[in-house]
Amino acid sequence: MEFLNTSIGRKMIMAVTGGSMILFTIIHLLGNSSIFVGPSGINSYAEHLHSMPLPIIVAFRAVMLALFVVHVIYGIQLTLENRVGRTSQYALKANRKATFSSENMIWTGSLLFVFIVYHLLHFTFRSTPGLKLVTDASGHFDVFAMVASSFTSFVGAGIYVAFVAVLFLHLYHGIQSFFQTIGQANDSTLPTITTVGRFVALVLFLGFASIPLSILLGIIKG
Ligand code: HEM
Repeated sequence: MEFLNTSIGRKMIMAVTGGSMILFTIIHLLGNSSIFVGPSGINSYAEHLHSMPLPIIVAFRAVMLALFVVHVIYGIQLTLENRVGRTSQYALKANRKATFSSENMIWTGSLLFVFIVYHLLHFTFRSTPGLKLVTDASGHFDVFAMVASSFTSFVGAGIYVAFVAVLFLHLYHGIQSFFQTIGQANDSTLPTITTVGRFVALVLFLGFASIPLSILLGIIKG
């Protein structure tokens, strides 16, 4: 427990919670890509997820929520600490090649918080207006119709493209920071880790953005 009160302990918590959420995001994109198969693709994927035993679904959601909350609390705490110690960190920071992404983690993180709350109200709790909530031919909830009805307007699709652009900015620094914190980056491996991390952030952005854009442009049809 003492470890959690050290700066490296807190960074380690950020890395473990952030890394787990990155893993979820990669799996989520792979699952969502089934929408390119058409309505049956994403509907049978969603059906498969929802047919898991309830305790597993509840436990998964509780773990995700805990990871998210802990990441946010420690992120705020670390940012405040860094601000207080700004003068002593100055030399170190100049060395570390700050980027727009690394300098604004707290702001991109805060925007992601807002987007994720919106996203859960939208597709998990299905409580936002204008959603098409129907069942498909086999009597199961039609996730395709719900998702498609959200992205037929420029604003609906635009919100999600903005969401994943902010995710890109957060992960542009976040993935590389994860490897540095867990001690996997040294002077010779850091450039490669940074490049691969930025590439993965870009692939996630293009992958997620392609879904609302393909629906908006009529490339994916019901
Ligand atoms: C185009 C982009 C996205 C689409 C179309 C999409 C679609 C969906 C859908 C349909 C669900 C509900 C699944 C169900 O209950 O059957 C869902 C849940 C969720 N999504 Fe996304 N998603 C997108 C991007 C993201 C991103 C970028 C993140 C995180 C950074 C994310 C995080 C979540 C979470 C945490 C859940 C709740 C999982 C649960 O129900 O337990 N999504 N998403």
